[in-house]
Amino acid sequence: MFQGRSLLKEVDFTPAELEYLIDFSIHLKDLKKRNIPHEYLKGQNICLLFEKSSTRTRSAFTVACNDLGAYPEFMGAGDIQLGKKESVEDSAKVFGSMFDGIEFRGFSQEHVEALAKYSGVPVWNGLTDAWHPTQMIADFMTIKEEFGKLKGLKLVYCGDGRNNMANSLVVTGSMLGVSVTIASPEELFPEQSVIDYAEKFAKESGSTVTVTSDIKSAVKDADILYTDVWVSMGEEDKFEERIKLLKPYQINKELTDLIENENYIFLHCLPAFHDTETKYGAEMAERFGVKEMEVTDEVFRDEKHARQFEEAENRMHSIKAIMAATNGNLFIPRV
Ligand code: CP
Ligand code: NVA
Repeated sequence: MFQGRSLLKEVDFTPAELEYLIDFSIHLKDLKKRNIPHEYLKGQNICLLFEKSSTRTRSAFTVACNDLGAYPEFMGAGDIQLGKKESVEDSAKVFGSMFDGIEFRGFSQEHVEALAKYSGVPVWNGLTDAWHPTQMIADFMTIKEEFGKLKGLKLVYCGDGRNNMANSLVVTGSMLGVSVTIASPEELFPEQSVIDYAEKFAKESGSTVTVTSDIKSAVKDADILYTDVWVSMGEEDKFEERIKLLKPYQINKELTDLIENENYIFLHCLPAFHDTETKYGAEMAERFGVKEMEVTDEVFRDEKHARQFEEAENRMHSIKAIMAATNGNLFIPRV
């Protein structure tokens, strides 16, 4: 049963339930493309709390709410007291008394867990420092659309191995039978507790978990090549150190030429630093002579392989599926 549940981290759901959400997302995408109404949350009020900024997650929740017949209310960092002048517990009780569901994007995983505990309504984690679970449904949906399956594929994530994306990818992949390799410098290897977690699931799903600093060997048998920013939100003072550490982990043509599967795909949760068309991108080019960071513009624009914008669109369909399954009165057979 999905009704009334929160999605705070991937392991809140079983592998079969995650795969159900992926398939339901694909179904809702089809309904949307065919203009078939699907107002499963008609009349609901949904609270969108953002302590950190967002383009995709905010847009996805807003449009998904509208398509589902719900009313979204956005509250940014400067608008609410959460944890500053009012405890998370007290804020949660207030939100829960007025809203039917809450999205939270912020720093602390404890805060999103507390919101769920004290609000009494479903809470969806739109990214914390630890996990990015709604992103996972979109990512593995994009992979399933491309390959028609998940089990047996290999995903190689290159870059900051200890951020929210690396954590979520290695755990979700191992739950769904996708082998995941994290290729990063030793200084940025994932925490052992995350790897232990992933290995437990990998054993059950028949996949593997690998952590290595040898990026060239790692990518050879990749089906999916994944990267994320070198500096996550809240770490903006770390550009210099990360550029030094992560330059050898850039996804560029020299690296993609090593991939044996000519039908591999490139994914990126976005936003990406692939040129100097951003304030930070231009500043880093000026200060360190680095015009492209985690991915080169050439790879980013390689239409044969790059799927990051399909992935971005899928954020909306998958967030819609998550909200509808957990807060709509849908009949979902036990999965
Ligand atoms: N991928 C992602 O979460 O994008 P936003 O930060 O724009 O929401
Ligand atoms: N690791 C990135 C992901 C952005 C979607 C961050 O936390 O900023």
